[in-house]
This record gives sequence, structure tokens and C-alpha cells, in this order.
Amino acid sequence: MEFYNREKEINDLLGMIRQEPNLITFIYGPINSGKTVLMYHLVENVLPKQEERYATFYINLRQYFVTSQESFIRVLFNLSEEDIFSRVKEMISKGISFVLNYHGIPIRESLLEKLLKRKEINDAFEFLKNFFLKLKRNDIKPILIFDELQVIKDIKINEPLIYRIFNFFISLTKELKLCHVFAITSDSTFIERIYNEAMLQGRCEYYLVDDFDKGTVERILKGKGFSKEEIEIVWHYFGGKPIDIVRAIQMRNIGRDIKEYCEEKLEERKNWISEIILQKEDEKEFFKKIISLLKNFENNDSIKYKKITPEILFLIENNILFADPKKKFLKPQSKLDLLAIRSFLKEFNV
Ligand SMILES: Nc1ncnc2c1ncn2[C@@H]1O[C@H](COP(=O)(O)OP(=O)(O)OP(=O)(O)O)[C@@H](O)[C@H]1O
Ligand SMILES: [Mg+2]
Repeated sequence: MEFYNREKEINDLLGMIRQEPNLITFIYGPINSGKTVLMYHLVENVLPKQEERYATFYINLRQYFVTSQESFIRVLFNLSEEDIFSRVKEMISKGISFVLNYHGIPIRESLLEKLLKRKEINDAFEFLKNFFLKLKRNDIKPILIFDELQVIKDIKINEPLIYRIFNFFISLTKELKLCHVFAITSDSTFIERIYNEAMLQGRCEYYLVDDFDKGTVERILKGKGFSKEEIEIVWHYFGGKPIDIVRAIQMRNIGRDIKEYCEEKLEERKNWISEIILQKEDEKEFFKKIISLLKNFENNDSIKYKKITPEILFLIENNILFADPKKKFLKPQSKLDLLAIRSFLKEFNV
């Protein structure tokens, strides 16, 4: 996959990583804005070029069905018989620069079974803490990355599991300065909840990864041979949504007319949104509120909000709107969604 410019984001993230860990960093943004691809790129291509030595542990919760503490521990770790520290010693003695990239924390099967038997998640956390300490003593900076952390938002043992995890993250960052922790999510309701969570106040920061800006889209498409007119069409329909840009390039490569392709996508999206909204037509009061909220987007690309009302929640949960809890604004998940909302309002004359 070709990776397109994210210079600013990469510089910002490197800036955070170069400092001592202080806060948990939540990376958030609209759906398909390129959060996961950006973090992969950082881990695989950017960190290996740095002078410092890093060890990254990427845990993608979307790939698994996590329903309990036990299944969470299982995704946290990755069975491996390799002794990471002898590998480290060998590389250090050879004087080669390196980065260690893992999916999950490598662990021997017998040890994982032991941790699972103990039932107490703190034992797993204690193991991790010592593991990170040992890395640090070897002059390696550990980085822990959770993608789609909201997957575990509803798991409860005695208290919600996520509180236990946040406490652990706080001790790793702010207290022990041991490890950088990044949590990525595109679930706006989750990020909004976290933002208002008392236990996290002053202990985390929020970093928005949004769609590309116009200059970036122009550069990418120009490089792919798009004419000025075609670039304007793509920007009009798709804005800077990376996935839509990539699809537009593919469609043009196979000879599709760009305008026709964009129109087709808009029609599809409008039908999808209409179906969701019209499901609520019988709940007269609620329906009215949804429509009046959407009408704000007839003339605005984004609007301010004070709190998450039921109609905002409904549109967020259906991936039509995106809420930024830091700047308190609401906008459609994509430019195509904005146009689809406008077209829906016009067509149904509501
Ligand atoms: N910087 C980039 N360069 C090239 N393609 C990109 C880039 N960022 C995103 N894409 C394209 O957009 C798609 C979606 O990106 P990605 O999965 O990273 O988004 P996301 O924000 O993590 O989505 P989600 O909200 O579902 O978690 C990728 O599969 C890729 O095709
Ligand atoms: Mg993602």
C-alpha cells in the first residue's frame, strides 16, 4: 500500500514519543480517517529510522471477540518461545540500531496459562510492568498501542474492566514514566465518555487525526494524473477522506468516469442515511428533533454542541455524525455524508 503524506501528524507523534511518558494519548477522529494506517506507518517505517531504540506492542482489539477479562488477557499477549532479551543483547553487542515491533506482548505459553489461572488481572499488569522495566534498563523505550479500545467498554467483573486498565495506564505513564500508551478509537460516544471521565482528568491528552486537507488531496491526485477538473470533483464529493481518495484513484485506473462514480456513491449514501432516519418517522417528537438537528448542516459543514442529546447520540451511533469532545463540534463523518444529508432533506422535503 502506498502511504500518503501525514507529515504533521508524524512530527507531532514523534514529538510526544521523544519526551518522557506523562499522559495517556487518545487518538481519535472520524471513521476511516486513517488512524490505524498512520500508527502502523509510524511503527514500521518511522521509528526504525530514529536514533533511540523502541519496542512497540500493537494490540488491535477489532480483530478479536473480546467479551471477558480472560479473553482480554489473551489478546494482550502473544505466544512466543523467543527470548526477547537475548535478542536485544545480541543486537546491542553488534551495535546495530533496531526497533522491536510486536503484535501483543510476547510470552511463553506456560507463563500465560499461569497468569490466566490467577484470575486477577493485576498479576498480568505486574508482569507487564516488570517486562517494560527490563526493556527500559536495556535502554529501549516501550510503546503500547491499543487500537479500538472501546471494544471492552462494557466488560464488567466487579467494576468495569476499563477502569482497571486506565489505572494501569496512568501508573505506566504519569507515575512510573515507563511506557508510552496510545489508545486509538473512532467511536465518538466512547471518546466523549472518556473525555468526561473524572479519573482521567489531567492524565490524558487527545489527538485528532482527521481527513486530509485540500492541499494534500490535490498533491495526491495530481501525482496520479488527475486533471484539475477531476480533482475539484473528487474534493467536492469526498473531501479529504483517505479511503474515498484511494477508491477514486482505483476507479479512474480502471477507466471509470469520476463524476459518474461520485454521483453513484452519493446516491448510495443518501439511500442508506434515509433508511436509518426514516425508521424513526413514527416517533414523531424524536423524528422532528433529528430533522431539525440535520437542518443545521444545510448551510454549515460543522456545528457547535453543548451536550450529547438523544438525537445527537442516535446519529453518532449510526455513524452519520462525528463529535469532537475537545472542541465540542459536530460534523458529518465525511463530505459524502454531508452531501447525502443535504440531498435527503431536499428529497423528502422534511
Ligand atoms: N496516509 C494514508 N495513505 C494512504 N492511504 C490511506 C492513508 N490513510 C488512510 N488510507 C486509506 O484509508 C483506509 C482507512 O484507513 P484506516 O483504517 O487507517 O482508518 P481508521 O481511521 O483507522 O478507520 P476506523 O475508523 O475504521 O478505525 C486505509 O485502508 C487506506 O486505504
Ligand atoms: Mg482504525
